[in-house]
Amino acid sequence: KYPGLALTPPMGWNSWNTFACNINEKMIKEMADAMVSSGMRDAGYKYLVLDDCWLSPTRDSLQNLQADPKKFPDGMKALGDYIHSKGLKFGIYNCAGTKTCAGYPGTRGHEYQDALTYASWGVDYLKYDWCNTEGINAREAYTTMSKALAATHRPIVFSMCEWGTNQPWLWGAPIAELWRTTTDIGRGWYIKPNPHGWAPLGFTQIIDKEVNLRQYAGPGHWNDPDMLEVGNGMPVNEDRAHFSMWAMLAAPLIAGNDLRHMSEETRDILTNRGVIAVDQDSLGIQALRYEVKDSVETWMKPLEGGDWAICFLNRAAEPKAIDFDWKANVVKDTLSNRELNANTQRYAIVDLWTNKAMGTTQKALKGTVPSHDVLMVYLSKQIKKK
Ligand code: DGJ
Repeated sequence: KYPGLALTPPMGWNSWNTFACNINEKMIKEMADAMVSSGMRDAGYKYLVLDDCWLSPTRDSLQNLQADPKKFPDGMKALGDYIHSKGLKFGIYNCAGTKTCAGYPGTRGHEYQDALTYASWGVDYLKYDWCNTEGINAREAYTTMSKALAATHRPIVFSMCEWGTNQPWLWGAPIAELWRTTTDIGRGWYIKPNPHGWAPLGFTQIIDKEVNLRQYAGPGHWNDPDMLEVGNGMPVNEDRAHFSMWAMLAAPLIAGNDLRHMSEETRDILTNRGVIAVDQDSLGIQALRYEVKDSVETWMKPLEGGDWAICFLNRAAEPKAIDFDWKANVVKDTLSNRELNANTQRYAIVDLWTNKAMGTTQKALKGTVPSHDVLMVYLSKQIKKK
């Protein structure tokens, strides 16, 4: 694959979670404008990704992909130019099968041709789905597309979307920058499985699936627990918990709300600089679930330079008290070879949601976490005075 892409988890916006197939040129351009005016771009969100349904129902006479001329009258090259003119990057979608999930022309059998088409439009990111793939092997299909993208010599981030079905974490790192680990996210803390068919997952159900995947993530190759539902209807505490946990998981931060009309609360969550810095930390280590006690989970993410992010996630329907004795909890993370030891090192603590200082690790951390919310803190190593 193209070297050096996505050394930190990709950040951006994708059309699917809010708009599904209702996309068009005017709306996408407005979204590009909103990414700038809302401060999202400056907070790090740079890929603007069109999901399914941008395509015309047929290829052209030379079998090239073409945009739906009604939805995108000026075509994809012009749209890409517009997106680039805003200081953003251009992402697009297709599928490894014969058709996309929504029934538009898929890429199967046209991998090199489609890759060149994307490169000619200035595409910087490809999300590659997994519908209508009967009889094909996932690893082979994604490898072919990865090679096709590499052959264009354009840096194009490759996002594999086969929902974790074929354990892409075991083979994805050499060919892609990110891979979905689960079926689609829905708007909810917990979403009941549907005994008669498919249902999306609530974000806490996705978190459970990430616990054992941390050794597969790292700079340039990330687990993707799916796009954000922040601002799409969950209560603000759940949005905050969702966003905090995606940062702890070093997950791609791909917003999926209507950026043109977001509340201040939503914007404050999506642009929280401290939480984003935890996600984007250059060490690239996915958090460890250190402890689960009385419905409170303690997650720990080692950071570059010896700092740590800690997130207490309250899964209960009532508030929970936290009393965490740093000195009694020496954390050894064998994956990153880092140790959090308050007996030998002092850390200053800051609450990442209130920005308030909370003392140091010399004393136990005490606080209350509301139901379905988090306490997320940043531990910075204090340099000892001689
Ligand atoms: C399934 C993917 O998981 C979704 O994120 C979205 O891309 C849809 N397909 C589009 O059809």
